[in-house]
Amino acid sequence: MWVFCCGTIFAMAKTSFGKKHIPLIIGNWKMNPQTEDKAQILFGEIKKAVISKKPVAEVVVCTPSVFIGSVQKLSKKGRIKLGAQDVFYADSGAHTGEVSLSMLKSLGVLYVIVGHSERRACGETDLVVQKKVSAVLQSGLSCIVCVGETTRDAHGDYFNVVETQLKSFLSQLKTAHLSRLIIAYEPIWAIGTSKHATAEDVQEMKLFIQKIIAHVMERSAVAKVRILYGGSVNKDNAEELLIRGQTDGFLVGGASLKAKDFGEIIHISDFYGS
Ligand code: PGA
Repeated sequence: MWVFCCGTIFAMAKTSFGKKHIPLIIGNWKMNPQTEDKAQILFGEIKKAVISKKPVAEVVVCTPSVFIGSVQKLSKKGRIKLGAQDVFYADSGAHTGEVSLSMLKSLGVLYVIVGHSERRACGETDLVVQKKVSAVLQSGLSCIVCVGETTRDAHGDYFNVVETQLKSFLSQLKTAHLSRLIIAYEPIWAIGTSKHATAEDVQEMKLFIQKIIAHVMERSAVAKVRILYGGSVNKDNAEELLIRGQTDGFLVGGASLKAKDFGEIIHISDFYGS
């Protein structure tokens, strides 16, 4: 079955899947750093690294939500856009500990990560991911939805895992919202492990995701959705993943906590981005 899929995918790739996007580089700070002062310092360093390179790439930094307000003051009129690492789908009410889209919008957030594997590991289901994706897109913000398998097997079952994750939210989306949908392929085995997926893996999965989008939505939808790679991206593998992996950008964890490294990934993306 996978052989058939591959043939179909590569045939489609030659036709309508060729649209190039401006590279999108997203830093995911996760639960770092530990104080507001340190968050401001790191953001300032990234700002310096980014400004000096005047990137073409779109750059987004997703800080912990408690720090968004203080980095917003530093990001004004800057080249770095603000993102959040998660959000709740309801807009107000009795949801202790949650953060709403209105709250994020009031702080200038433009992007929201949904369904990161570290949230799914805390019990977030495909249904919850679907509700969050719909709420983010409905609110006018851009949504970065993470998908990816835990392990790889020789039979290609990991494609089924990704397909199930994709279908659960794609089926609920409106075509008009697709240009604000970003899918991040993040194999769990590659996150924070220094074992990134190969460029071939990345390209193959991008084509597979595009095939699912075409199947669930419509063929013209494919060109609107950006597909990123995440999982141990660093300044040494970024070029290879962009050129041969054909990714539209990166979701960067660990390396986004080092301003110089993150700046270099952005710089490389400017040269080699799709
Ligand atoms: P990593 O994390 O770059 O540290 O592997 C990526 C992510 O989890 O978004």
